[in-house]
Amino acid sequence: MKILSIESSCDETAAAVVEDGRKVLSSFLYTQVEEHRLYGGVVPEIASRRHTEQVVRVTERALQEASLSLSELDAIAVTAAPGLIGALLVGVNFAKGLALSANKPLIPVHHLRGHIAANYLSHPELKPPFLCLVVSGGHSHIVRVKDYTQFEIIGKTRDDAAGEAFDKAARAMGYPYPGGVEIDRLTRQGGDRFAYSFPRPRVENAPYDFSFSGLKTAVINLLHHAEQKGETLNTADVAASFNHTVAEILTDRLIAAAIAGGDTVIALAGGVSANSLLREYASKKCEQHGLTLCFPPLSLCSDNAAMIGSQAYYEAQKGNFASLSLNACASMPIDQSFER
Ligand code: KG4
Ligand code: ZN
Repeated sequence: MKILSIESSCDETAAAVVEDGRKVLSSFLYTQVEEHRLYGGVVPEIASRRHTEQVVRVTERALQEASLSLSELDAIAVTAAPGLIGALLVGVNFAKGLALSANKPLIPVHHLRGHIAANYLSHPELKPPFLCLVVSGGHSHIVRVKDYTQFEIIGKTRDDAAGEAFDKAARAMGYPYPGGVEIDRLTRQGGDRFAYSFPRPRVENAPYDFSFSGLKTAVINLLHHAEQKGETLNTADVAASFNHTVAEILTDRLIAAAIAGGDTVIALAGGVSANSLLREYASKKCEQHGLTLCFPPLSLCSDNAAMIGSQAYYEAQKGNFASLSLNACASMPIDQSFER
């Protein structure tokens, strides 16, 4: 089954063709990140405009690279939730137009399910059930993937997402958007991860939930106090210490959830799963506890359409198609399905 997939939930306009959920025939992407960097974060109106301008070209490239015409496809898939509503609507309406004109079935895909599916593209042996840490700019979840289309939320953030915390802390340190990448770079380039000690907030009676806003505030306070006293801090050390704290919090709760739930296979997904310390700590802990760990290559951690095409195949196997009245949704839990 060859599926053309479209992704436009945030600041990447992407299209891909994926065969049977596992084989990427083509994947093409236009990133708007340079433009949003000027404003320190994603500007929703600009994102929607750029998607509108780029979606046709990006889709044509994906079809060309796969040497396929629309008529040779089996279905059209699109990220329909969650994300920036104006940005999602561009992809959803474009996909609906294609599905109608080419008379192909339409498959709506949940963006976070797509992030998880990125692991299917890089790990041919990976099959549910497994436990997944999904950490992106907008979400931080520990999810049990019971089956390809069946999910159980084990833990989630109560305030900021992990990526959001990275971006806000980096911004306070004067680094450009997306700050997670900068903090990772400073850590790898020798920032001292043990230079500062930051809080590790816990949520009462919810051992697998996260709370990152206090940690982010602690970084901002440290920087402000130093500024008021006229002291110069080594921001690489602050960045590395912050990165160390977030990576340990994520890893510790993920492994604790796996042990409590009897999971033996663990996956990482989402933009923050590109983080070097998170990968290092998760690898070490999984080895210690005899758990198998998967994470996607860097190119599949951040937003792309191939991961959407992968998940779409499994949605199609379950008959999860949509009619042309499909609407985009800014927020939607991962365990909820689209209306048929
Ligand atoms: O999954 P993603 O590309 O988009 C969303 O669905 O949100 O995630 C983007 C987030 C941003 O907050 C970015 O700073 C973070 O992922 N990120 C990283 C790294 N690469 C991207 N955070 C930490 N370390 C990285 N290497
Ligand atoms: Zn994403």
